[in-house]
Order: sequence, then C-alpha cells, then structure tokens
Amino acid sequence: IELPTFVILNFCPMSQIRAAIKGVYGYVPADVLSNKDLETMVDTNDEWIKARTGIEERHILKDPEKATSFMATQAVQGLLAKTGLSPLDIDLLICASVTPDYFFPDTGTLICYNIGAKNAFAYDIQAACSGFLFSATTGAKFIESGAYKNVVVVGADKMSSIVDYTDRATCILFGDAAGAILLQPNTEGFGLRDSWMRVDGVGAEFLYMKGGGSRNPATHETIDNKWHYIFQDGKPVFKAAVKGMSEAVNEILKRNNLSPDDIRFVVPHQANLRIIQAVADYLKFPMERVMVNIQKYGNTTSGTIPLCLWEWENQLKPGDHVILTSFGGGYTWGASLWTWAY
Ligand code: UT7
Repeated sequence: IELPTFVILNFCPMSQIRAAIKGVYGYVPADVLSNKDLETMVDTNDEWIKARTGIEERHILKDPEKATSFMATQAVQGLLAKTGLSPLDIDLLICASVTPDYFFPDTGTLICYNIGAKNAFAYDIQAACSGFLFSATTGAKFIESGAYKNVVVVGADKMSSIVDYTDRATCILFGDAAGAILLQPNTEGFGLRDSWMRVDGVGAEFLYMKGGGSRNPATHETIDNKWHYIFQDGKPVFKAAVKGMSEAVNEILKRNNLSPDDIRFVVPHQANLRIIQAVADYLKFPMERVMVNIQKYGNTTSGTIPLCLWEWENQLKPGDHVILTSFGGGYTWGASLWTWAY
C-alpha cells in the first residue's frame, strides 16, 4: 500500500517534540529606493537592474537614529500581537544579522529590552545571508530538546548602513527589512523535519566587509579605503549560490524520500531572480511554487526568508511541506524542511 507523503513524513512517536512555526511577521521601512532613483546616483539603469537581478525597488530605513534593532523590534511586536503571546512568555530570542546595532551588546538583547521580554535570554547569529536559516534550526533545537516553549527567531538587516552608494555593482542589490517567526513545541508531526547546512571559507574573499573587525579595526585609512562597505565579486558568488542552494535542496529531498511534487513551496533567499530561476530549473520546480518577492525588497540579507513566509502565509495550510534555502557570504548555505502547522 502506498501511503501519502503527509502520512509517512508525519509518522513519529507521539512523544517526539518538533518545533513548529506558529506565526510570522515582517517589517519593511516606508522609504522606497527605486531603480529610477539609483539612475541619478550611479551609472546604471532600470532595464539593466531588472534584467540582471529582478529587482525593481528596495526599502531603506532613512532615519539615522534608527538601526537594525528598531526594525527587528517592530517585527517581533507584530508577531506577539498576532499570536497573542506575551513578551514575558518568550524563553529565547535569536537575532540573525550582519548589521547589528553594535558589535556588543548583541541586537537580540536590545530587542528583548525594547519589547519587555524579561524572562528571555538572547543572542545574535551572524552567518551572512544564511543567518536566518541557521538561526531557525538553532532555535528549533531548543524546542526539540524540551528545554523551552516559546522561541522567537528574527532576521533583520539595515543593509543601507554598509552599502556604498557610489558602487553600482552592489548598491542596486540591497534593502532594509526584518522578519520574525515564533517556534513552539508540537507533537502532532508539524514543524522542522530536517536541515542540511554547510560553510566554506573559500568564499570569504568574494563577499565580505574588510574593515571594522579585529583584522582591520577602524582607522582613517580603512575609512578612506571604503573598507566599511560590502565588497562583492558577483560572478563567483552567483555560480556558488546556484550550486549551493541546488545541492542543499536536493539533499533534503533525497534523504526524506521526497520529490518536488511533494513540496508546496520552496522559499529561497532573495539575492538575484536569475539565481532563483536557475535553482528552480535544476530542481525541476515550477516557479509558481517558488516564493519570489525580490522585485519589491531587493536582497535584505537576514530578512528575505521570513518576509516571503509572511507574504505567502495565507496560501499555506497545515501539512504543507515547505523548504527554506539560502546562500551567503562565507560561504554559508543550506536548506531546511518544515511541515506547516497552521
Ligand atoms: O546574498 C548573498 C549572495 N549574493 C549573491 O548571490 C549575488 C550574486 N551575484 C549576482 O547576483 C550578480 O553577479 C550581480 C547582480 C552582482 C552582477 O550581475 P552579472 O550579470 O554577474 O554582471 P557582471 O558583474 O558580470 O557585469 C556585467 C556588466 C559589466 O560591464 P562590462 O564589463 O561587460 O562592460 C559591468 O560593469 O554589467 C556592468 N554592470 C552594470 N551595468 C549597469 C555592473 N553593475 C551594473 C549596474 N548597472 N548596476
């Protein structure tokens, strides 16, 4: 007898605790930076940007008094209001970001302070564009272990704070945003089923920020050299991203005996529409079941995956299988398989 995939995947001892996503919320700042705006800033044009990246506009947090923790706080407050959870019930908050407000204290602690999460502990995870993916699996493990009941994972980046708006190779790509999920225990088979994650430092030279860390602390020289901005050699990163995300999703499918038909949606990191299309082609996934909103937000680094989930949430139902996948600086990449819980 052939059992439906949902039955096979959800066969687990009733006592087994899985971490289910029980709510999603996003925050995008109001100010829009369009391709037309960028035409007035660097030697580029709307057609090139749309054809080479799929991006039409991105949102920017303009207020210099506001930083990553502000956007993350908005996203988490929205998540709490939506799920009816009190900040006092949060056990752990993990913040994924490459643009923390400060080196220290960590952004997670600032968010907990802002929302009044007095019973929580928090920390940041930095894994470039894979930060949210890695953080979601990390948070899930605290639930699976039985240690905690309410874990919030928030991905937030004020990329405009590290973008050089005179460099046309990078300034067209990035935007600012935040997205958060609530993880809670579940024994009915919903939640995180599998993750496959990797890193390879061979990628460090192709996508990085050279200044500001202990290798090149800030000096007049590092500022003059623009080392506090993103540097990217796009071509090798593009190739590695297609290979990495394809490999990761394939691994997840293979070791869970799934085919693309069993997956409701693939949720890829939004770095370039052509990367997403190449991954979908390789995996033979129809683009109708691949979440894409890069045209509106650009690459928001840690924000891309939760922003997609937020936007597509009402198209998901309990039992749907969703694969998240990302690729970023480091290199860092991976994929995770979730059974949607609501
Ligand atoms: O999220 C983390 C992971 N990051 C990524 O996955 C990003 C991966 N890389 C990419 O998405 C692409 O490599 C880019 C979008 C960054 C660049 O696209 P590309 O198709 O690789 O373009 P290219 O760098 O090879 O440049 C092609 C041409 C060059 O001109 P020549 O040498 O052919 O005359 C560039 O100078 O396009 C030129 N160019 C531009 N022209 C207009 C580069 N940037 C621009 C621009 N506007 N903004």
